[in-house]
Amino acid sequence: MTLEPPPAVGTAPEIDRRRVLRLIDEQKGLLADRTPRSGQYYERARQVMPKGVPSSFQENDPWPVYIERGSGADVVDVDGNEYVDFHNGFGVMCVGHANPAIAAAVKRRVDEGTHFAAPTEGSIVVAEELSRRFGLPQWRFTNSGTESTMDAVHVARGATGRDVILKIEGSYHGHHDAVMVSVYPELEELGDRDDPRSVPFGAGYPKAITDLTRSVPFNDAGALARVLERMDGKVAALIMEPAMMNINIIPPVEGYLEEVRRLTSEHGVVLVFDEVKTGATISPGGATQRFGVQPDIVTLAKATCGGLPGGAVGMTAELAQVIADGTVHQYGTFNGNPLVMAAARATLMEVLVPEAYERLERANQALLRGCDEIIAEYGLPCYTEGLGAKGCVVFASEPLREYRDYLVKVDDDLSTLAWLVHMNNGIFMTPGVEEEWTLSIAHTDAHLQRYLDAFEKFARSISG
Ligand SMILES: Cc1ncc(COP(=O)(O)O)c(C=O)c1O
Repeated sequence: MTLEPPPAVGTAPEIDRRRVLRLIDEQKGLLADRTPRSGQYYERARQVMPKGVPSSFQENDPWPVYIERGSGADVVDVDGNEYVDFHNGFGVMCVGHANPAIAAAVKRRVDEGTHFAAPTEGSIVVAEELSRRFGLPQWRFTNSGTESTMDAVHVARGATGRDVILKIEGSYHGHHDAVMVSVYPELEELGDRDDPRSVPFGAGYPKAITDLTRSVPFNDAGALARVLERMDGKVAALIMEPAMMNINIIPPVEGYLEEVRRLTSEHGVVLVFDEVKTGATISPGGATQRFGVQPDIVTLAKATCGGLPGGAVGMTAELAQVIADGTVHQYGTFNGNPLVMAAARATLMEVLVPEAYERLERANQALLRGCDEIIAEYGLPCYTEGLGAKGCVVFASEPLREYRDYLVKVDDDLSTLAWLVHMNNGIFMTPGVEEEWTLSIAHTDAHLQRYLDAFEKFARSISG
């Protein structure tokens, strides 16, 4: 397994809290002043959508920035503000906005008919390519990451005849009942580290279902071994991100994934790598290829379909048998939709080819190094982490290993301020303390420099 070099850890200067809070207020005011039209859209949108957004992940304070268009690495909001996009649609747009190859493939398909609910050749080609990339022979298609992980859970339960699902504490796998458990629990809700409580992520999930999902801490094979021993014969699957990407980025420690693989095999537990975020972004074969550990199921979505809403589930021949023989029903009117398949085919075969991954890796390493230099120069209490097209500055003065670290070590105020300063300086970033940037093949050195300029502005502002 190849691991990234250890991250640079800043030597924490005294951060003036009052100054940081004042700067947050100022920057919030500035963002509101720069986006009045988004404010108007928000008022209108609230009349017809809760929180004024199609998905609660898009909400923001004081309102979301409504986007008008994007091209390459750039996006423009409804007020005409131009940004370099490091949000990239929650890590979807590695291909860059309005990518000509994808646009051409989709336009061609539009003229040939967009939906039949009967298979087309596109789904065969994409399944063949995914098999090659991820080393799993059988694939089905879905419409989102949520559907991919839901189907993975169904297949694992159907194949093993067991009900319990294990997941990693502090991980998000979409919004179906089996995985809306222990996503972002509060410190006081966590319970014992060796036997964490199953905490529902909001209301609407029956307790009986929540109780069937148990969580374990990331990067701790010993804790997993003890749970598997205790629950021997009951656990259908362990679903996990091989590198956590919803609480900044936390890579696996040396040997962890290998041990997870060994333990799950020993206990007959289906190992599901949720590669919705890592799949098409950190190597051609995602984390599976990058870390060299083979799971039984891989779940994909996001960047795989180049900006169209699609997902996929890959599995072993043995697991696929439960779908083939009708034990598990994997359905969906839009599964393998020709438009989505055309976009996925162009993404995987024409755009995100091996050279594209090399380019993304180089650009990401340059951006991480640039941030490291600023962190060192200003002595900031943070460090960088990155894999493939993805990276972030983690606002903690020592590396995170798991969710419990994230809860107590990450500085929310500094994260919030950095986000605001970036937004006010033409860097479109994912809102939320827990997020990371995603680069696209359209990002040039000049785009990266704009990020570094904004980050330096933030560093200067808190250093007085
Ligand atoms: C790791 C992971 N799995 C699953 C999902 C759910 O994907 P979707 O939003 O397409 O349903 C997400 C979404 O952010 C994710 O990050």
